[in-house]
Amino acid sequence: MLNSPTLSDFISQKGYLPALQSILLDIAKVSVQVQKTLLDAPLGGMLGGNAHVNVQGEDQQKLDAYADELFVQGLLQNTFLAGIGSEERDDLIQGSAQGEYIAFFDPLDGSSNIDVNGSLGTIFSVMPRTQTGTLHNEELLQKGENQVLAGYVLYGAATWLVCSFGKGVHTFVLHTQTDTYHLLHEALQSPKSGKIYSINEGNILDCETPVQDYVKNCQERRYTARYAGALVGDFHRNLLKGGIYLYPATEKSPKGKLRLLYEAFPLAYIAREAGATASNGTMPILDITATALHERTPLFIGSVEMMRDLGAHCAF
Ligand code: AHG
Ligand code: MN
Ligand code: MN
Repeated sequence: MLNSPTLSDFISQKGYLPALQSILLDIAKVSVQVQKTLLDAPLGGMLGGNAHVNVQGEDQQKLDAYADELFVQGLLQNTFLAGIGSEERDDLIQGSAQGEYIAFFDPLDGSSNIDVNGSLGTIFSVMPRTQTGTLHNEELLQKGENQVLAGYVLYGAATWLVCSFGKGVHTFVLHTQTDTYHLLHEALQSPKSGKIYSINEGNILDCETPVQDYVKNCQERRYTARYAGALVGDFHRNLLKGGIYLYPATEKSPKGKLRLLYEAFPLAYIAREAGATASNGTMPILDITATALHERTPLFIGSVEMMRDLGAHCAF
């Protein structure tokens, strides 16, 4: 497998825009630092919370803050970026005024898995700017379909980087002896259907009836339930094997729990490029125009036939 191209060679051969190649390579570089940090975290006193509640009102873990710092510092040096939005920062961070792109990050996804050595991820999205000069907040008010690069890194048994420049989805695996990502799948296609459903069933009594009906239908069909507690891990499994992930509005989170700009948008972009699909229950995720950096959304994402079945229950 090491004969397969490196990430750098592959994207260069593909001829993607140099600015986007540069941004992706910087993200990949930081992800290697994050991966090493995660491996050493338990013995390095890096588990647990840091007594800070982030702008989402969620307890921040030490590694949430550390991963955020690594991505922000690593990416601010990239002059193609006019700014960065992160789950862990209240506001957009200004980058280079000459930069033509904005990057959005969930630096560490699945924080509740940190202390139990479960799957973790990083999710990223890159949008073009809509103005020049100093970055303005209104520039993030864009549709998901405007993304020009998106993807995620999954820190599991191995470290995978999955990305799309809008022309198919490619996967890469980190070779730890050389710290380089190598191509695993070119133009990955997700199965049109599957038998895995992923939802926090502890919330089922608080979900709307159509969602309850759909989950019941999955059980009647004897589908398999899988829920990692990390969106990246659940999405990745379902992308490869065929499946559906649901995080609907609940009584506790009436607008949904997941964030539009740095969780739903990038994964919906990957889904579309791999032949899967994503919705908020009333419209395609990629058709939504963001209204705020930390906006939340219900998310239904996965194999097209399962999403069609869900639509039969939920009328979308
Ligand atoms: P984050 O750790 O970035 O805040 O994201 C956590 C998200 C997502 O990864 C996961 O699927 C979901 O929260 C789990 O939520 P529940 O614990 O409510 O099921
Ligand atoms: Mn997350
Ligand atoms: Mn996170």
